[in-house]
Amino acid sequence: MPKPEGPQFFGRRKGRPLRTQLKTLMQTKLSHVQMPATAESLANLPQLFPHAPDDIYLEIGFGGGEHLAALAAGQPEAGFIGAEPFVNGVASLLRHMDERALQNIRVWPDDIRLILPSLPEASLAGAYIMFPDPWPKRRHASRRILNQDMLDALATLIRPGGHLRMASDHPEAKIWLLAEAMAHDKFTWQAETPSDWQNRPKDWPQTRYMAKGDREGRPSSWFDFIRN
Ligand SMILES: C[S@@+](CC[C@H](N)C(=O)[O-])C[C@H]1O[C@@H](n2cnc3c(N)ncnc32)[C@H](O)[C@@H]1O
Repeated sequence: MPKPEGPQFFGRRKGRPLRTQLKTLMQTKLSHVQMPATAESLANLPQLFPHAPDDIYLEIGFGGGEHLAALAAGQPEAGFIGAEPFVNGVASLLRHMDERALQNIRVWPDDIRLILPSLPEASLAGAYIMFPDPWPKRRHASRRILNQDMLDALATLIRPGGHLRMASDHPEAKIWLLAEAMAHDKFTWQAETPSDWQNRPKDWPQTRYMAKGDREGRPSSWFDFIRN
């Protein structure tokens, strides 16, 4: 299928060669759960799922997919779209989906920015950006996944009252995530007390990078914004 052209992606697309089980999953399962690429085929998101869900959530950069799989398992009535260009991460998500028999996830195995403009307005109940690549150097700031363009796109896609949820263990990334989102007039930060951002909310599953941050002594922060 031809891919839409888009911005440059600076992360990793490939890691270690996939084990046979994961390679087989990529060959047999991905095509059944892969998001289409054209605006026409994305015009009715609920119909991409077997149960035409009312609420559809997006996770940008799902890594190994453990957070997305846990969300999907906890809310079988909802639909979830996951985007991740790292092949080994996509294969790992397919394994979680297979092991937990999850039917409510659709996968975009590439840069999310390629399909964002084609997703229908107000089609999402929320979006997650968990532990994004920090790109702490100033000269790499343009590589950060959250910026005003991304927030404009998410403000169009997330319906009023929906959530934009983000987390990080990286001191610089925490600052740019908060600063960018607080600067956008369509999103309002929900925190009232420090415990609202210092403690992981019960309904936010753990992620691999969160566990790594914990092991290496970097506490995570959790940011919950509402689409006004
Ligand atoms: C630091 S990892 C975090 C992975 C996972 N969220 C976690 O917490 O374990 C950031 C992930 O975002 C993905 N990513 C970066 N830019 C992206 C983009 N434009 N679209 C989709 N995923 C992206 C990367 O490939 C990478 O897997």
